[in-house]
Amino acid sequence: MGSIITFHIKHLTHTLIFLLPYFLCAYCPNNSIISPPISPPLHIPPIPKFLDHRLREVYPIIQAFKNLITSDPFNVTSSWVGSDICNYTGFYCAHPPNNQSATALASIDFNGFGLVAPTLDGFINQLPDIAIFHANSNKFSGTIPPKLATLPFLYELDLSDNNFSGAFPPHIFHMNRLSFLDIRYNFFTGSVPPQLFLKNLDVLFLNNNKFTLKLPENLGSTPALYLTLANNKFTGSIPRSIGKASSTLTEVLLLNNWLSGCLPYELGFLKELKVFDASNNHLTGPLPISLGCLEKLEQLNLSRNLLYGKVPEVLCALGNLVKLSLSNNYFTKVGTLCGKLIESGVLEVKNNCIRDLPDQRSKVECIMFFSDTRSCPRPSTFDIIPCNVTPTSNNPPARPKRISLAYTAFVRHRLL
Ligand SMILES: *[C@@H]1O[C@H](CO)[C@@H](O)[C@H](O)[C@H]1NC(C)=O
Ligand SMILES: *[C@@H]1O[C@H](CO)[C@@H](O)[C@H](O)[C@H]1NC(C)=O
Ligand SMILES: *[C@@H]1O[C@H](CO)[C@@H](O)[C@H](O)[C@H]1NC(C)=O
Ligand SMILES: *[C@@H]1O[C@H](CO)[C@@H](O)[C@H](O)[C@H]1NC(C)=O
Ligand SMILES: *[C@@H]1O[C@H](CO)[C@@H](O)[C@H](O)[C@H]1NC(C)=O
Ligand SMILES: *[C@@H]1O[C@H](CO)[C@@H](O)[C@H](O)[C@H]1NC(C)=O
Repeated sequence: MGSIITFHIKHLTHTLIFLLPYFLCAYCPNNSIISPPISPPLHIPPIPKFLDHRLREVYPIIQAFKNLITSDPFNVTSSWVGSDICNYTGFYCAHPPNNQSATALASIDFNGFGLVAPTLDGFINQLPDIAIFHANSNKFSGTIPPKLATLPFLYELDLSDNNFSGAFPPHIFHMNRLSFLDIRYNFFTGSVPPQLFLKNLDVLFLNNNKFTLKLPENLGSTPALYLTLANNKFTGSIPRSIGKASSTLTEVLLLNNWLSGCLPYELGFLKELKVFDASNNHLTGPLPISLGCLEKLEQLNLSRNLLYGKVPEVLCALGNLVKLSLSNNYFTKVGTLCGKLIESGVLEVKNNCIRDLPDQRSKVECIMFFSDTRSCPRPSTFDIIPCNVTPTSNNPPARPKRISLAYTAFVRHRLL
């Protein structure tokens, strides 16, 4: 008995200081005799109790950030009080990988909160256990804090639709676990360092910024499944190296940039490719017939370029095609299979130079275009088909409407 009491006293000294008068009172004839004249100290614990020391350490950092916030339209920060950090709106706790019995602040989801703050510096970079940081559709400004690179667990960073500016944050290269990077809809300028395409990312969304960059030769080194570079000022041609991403690249959006040059036949190596959109650029040349190897292809949009020649029948034979947009180019010919796709609405060829089809460019326009000599490097590659094209059946499979993850990158507010 005595030893048990000693144990408790040793471990609960702090609590006992407050409870001692009540224990003594149990032996008093009347409690009021020794009631203190002021209200009992039980109601005002001097230090909030934290579930874990890791939470105690991030508490002042969160409170300091809260003070920086100048607008909070949904009043979320009103819940950021007290020691129960895991219950703050937008904050989530979990057991950190380096100690399964600890509880740490593991992820933050501020998506759509509309918070306004001049910087995240001093906040996110000081949360050592953070693994996921989502802040879509807020108005955070400034540049991305360099110390992010020191966070050992961070693997998802979504700063999309904010007010960040400045150059591409180079410290992102040092974030070893990062697999999801979404910085679309900001005001980043300047070039994107080519090393970015060596990072082990699954998802890379850079669309709707002001990046300028000649697409680097190593583009195809990216292991990303979803690559969205649309609505920037990327220049240069689509590098041949893209074929190296044959077992990963699934959706590629390059639309609304300043890309030029001819399509590399190595595009035909991308056996996982489902969506490819390079519309509204300055791409030229014929379509490589290697595109007929893209068996999983569902959507191909090359409209609003300077492409010409015949639309390859092997491309129109692909069984999973849902949409093939080639309008506003200078194509001159379609075969029987492609003709069928025009009829079924899958293939769009408006405003080209195809005789006998409606809605084509004027003769003069077409003659003008072809009066310039046009050629591509490696002309023989345009006729190589690097796969066994399976003979097409007369009854192509029903073409389902599919959902593209990459196109959701054009929705400012995240729906994922
Ligand atoms: C004991 O406390 C009650 C009220 O809590 C009071 O009415 C009573 O007079 C007290 N008795 C003594 C002996 O002080
Ligand atoms: C914010 O929430 C707190 C607590 O829920 C409430 O007391 C306060 O009035 C709210 N403020 C606004 C502006 O809605
Ligand atoms: C979490 O916070 C809500 C109010 O925001 C409160 O009603 C609830 O009791 C809290 N839960 C815990 C476990 O503290
Ligand atoms: C793991 O976390 C718990 C709770 O914070 C702590 O008591 C324990 O000492 C930690 N273990 C190690 C090995 O750090
Ligand atoms: C957005 O950032 C610019 C600086 O790049 C700043 O002048 C402006 O006030 C910021 N807007 C908001 C809403 O914070
Ligand atoms: C193809 O791209 C053009 C230009 O970017 C766009 O207007 C059109 O809607 C796209 N077509 C499809 C089917 O996505």
